[in-house]
Amino acid sequence: MVKDTLIEEILSLKSERKAIILAHNYQRPEVQDIADHTGDSLELSRTAANIDCEIIIFCGVHFMAESASILSPNKIVLLPDISAGCPMADMVVNKGERKVWRKFYGYEVEPHFEYPHNFTLKDLKNKYPNAPVVAYVNTTAEIKAESDICCTSANVIKVVNSLTEDTVISIPDKNLSAWAQKHSEKKIISWDGFCHVHDRITSKDVFTARQKYPNALFIAHPECRLEVLEMADHVASTSGMISFCKTSSHQEFIIGTETGIIHRLKKNSPEKLFYPLRDDMVCPNMKKINLQNILTALKEIKPIVKVPQDIALRAKKALDKMLSIK
Ligand code: 13P
Ligand code: SF4
Repeated sequence: MVKDTLIEEILSLKSERKAIILAHNYQRPEVQDIADHTGDSLELSRTAANIDCEIIIFCGVHFMAESASILSPNKIVLLPDISAGCPMADMVVNKGERKVWRKFYGYEVEPHFEYPHNFTLKDLKNKYPNAPVVAYVNTTAEIKAESDICCTSANVIKVVNSLTEDTVISIPDKNLSAWAQKHSEKKIISWDGFCHVHDRITSKDVFTARQKYPNALFIAHPECRLEVLEMADHVASTSGMISFCKTSSHQEFIIGTETGIIHRLKKNSPEKLFYPLRDDMVCPNMKKINLQNILTALKEIKPIVKVPQDIALRAKKALDKMLSIK
């Protein structure tokens, strides 16, 4: 089907079904363009919690659709490709089983990453019984349910510093934890997970890009390694990057995150220039959502992401606690 026809059909079915399309900043340009809201994880969680609709079509990855389902239990949440997961979210298990989580929803999808540790979150909690668990939203609902509070890349420092305890456990991203540690007096016990898109970036890549674009500011996502973040002119979540570039008096920027964001950066600041730090900073899972599977999801009202109530209620506490931090 040609693009215009696909878009027409999506828009008409969307209003018929009282559906809303939420798209993460890394989505394909054509998906971002038909979305009702685009944003980072924090913005999309807030929108999912407050929006008035019957169906949310979540254009992002599995943990984001789960958060929408947890925060809006009465709405139907569709993830147009159920295999669109975040490998980092698969890097933490609670009790040693690693292939159970997506079976909750009636779909058999293998995790993206072989569970790398011989210990579990439960073991870590036993080792540090007084340390609250801060779970990056890039975790499964099951793991959120075992955590005290969630955080996103936009609010991790605020969340960690809001806790009264001196020692906290931070899961799953070792790079986000290191960034928070740099801005906190607390002792952060980190899981050693990582995002394969951001963790591959080295300081050499930054040197090369700076040489190529000497007038550009370098901005980076906190999932990059600390050595890279320390070279950045600004560190922020994806939406934080967008507002920084819009308000900055600079005209050129090297972008240290997934390249999908460049579409929104250009749309927001058409007069400015944006260069990807590396062309291969692409998250294949984010790219699984396209116009065709959005239309199919709307027609068939599936695949549905519905977190079982006992898990959802416990995970919601951790998400609500984060959302209550201004
Ligand atoms: P943001 O919350 O900054 O959009 O990041 C989400 C993510 O998955 C980054 O890789
Ligand atoms: Fe996960 Fe990295 Fe993709 Fe974000 S970019 S969804 S952290 S794999």
